[in-house]
Amino acid sequence: TAPLSVAIAGLGTVGAGVLTVLLQNAELIAARAGRPIVVTAVAARNRSRDRGVPLDGLRWYDDPVAMAGDAKADVVVELIGGSDGPARALVEAALEGGKPVVTANKALLALRGADLARRAEAAGVVLAYEAAVAGGIPAIKALREGLAANRISRVTGILNGTCNYILTCMREQKREFGDVLAEAQKLGYAEADPSFDIDGVDAAHKLAILAALAFGRPVEFGAVHVEGIRNITATDIALAEELGYRIKLLGIAEAGEAGVAARVHPCMVPVSHPIAVVDGVYNAVVAEGDFVGRVVLEGRGAGAGPTASAVVADLIDIARGRQTPVWGAGSAALSSEPSRPMDSH
Ligand code: HSE
Repeated sequence: TAPLSVAIAGLGTVGAGVLTVLLQNAELIAARAGRPIVVTAVAARNRSRDRGVPLDGLRWYDDPVAMAGDAKADVVVELIGGSDGPARALVEAALEGGKPVVTANKALLALRGADLARRAEAAGVVLAYEAAVAGGIPAIKALREGLAANRISRVTGILNGTCNYILTCMREQKREFGDVLAEAQKLGYAEADPSFDIDGVDAAHKLAILAALAFGRPVEFGAVHVEGIRNITATDIALAEELGYRIKLLGIAEAGEAGVAARVHPCMVPVSHPIAVVDGVYNAVVAEGDFVGRVVLEGRGAGAGPTASAVVADLIDIARGRQTPVWGAGSAALSSEPSRPMDSH
């Protein structure tokens, strides 16, 4: 069978990670996908930087949007990031041209997911985004497919690896927020603008996506209550510990009669709860369904390997011809107006 020909926009940590996964696990991926998956085109500004992966023979684009028109590419992978600009233009152009899109872009989906879903479904093409939420944890598939029989009442999670890493270091090493931040940034998990991590915005992006999936309606992002971890001190953490709690930055989305309540803020989590012990760059997603009860998923929430793992899973689905609606079965029923989360205070 003809290989699936992939065009990748953005060759940073995650982009290089995707190339590495596809090369190292080529055989098993081909077996699971029913055909080989091969990257044939890339769009990146710097052509000469050594990314630790072979880049010979690829079709290079300086302009990612131009790559959407690459007639030989079967699918476009968007790893540029940002809720507007070239990332949005590329995704829209690819969908318009009938090409499936895989993206890790949580900001784009949180702010424009409803519109992009309509475009994808109007064009009859896949828009896949497993990598946008909680890195390597298959949270999207779990909510959309694995728990499809349930009414979900609540989705909770540790959704930002950088914050969880900082809070873990503050607790274990009794250090202050400012001391640990620079270290966390050096690990390369932080967003281009690290205030998105520490002020809770990145976690809120991911929560908005999970909530849309879980409750079958888009969430108005601007109405999500967002508070980060800047004001947490080592003393707060030590006192919480004495009382039997860990401080975690949580995203919480609940379905109520008035709509969906969605909020991100630091929480005291009792040490007996399974997510209290999720430390470092690990994320957790907890879903509560009426028949399944509580489901807890844990795994690395950031970094090249985990994020690339999720991108490649989406590529395998596309190679197989799986046609899942963007937000799951509820997609077609999504109202065009996002629901305004009810006040959660
Ligand atoms: N900056 C994000 C985090 C990367 O720290 O979790 C993964 O989305």
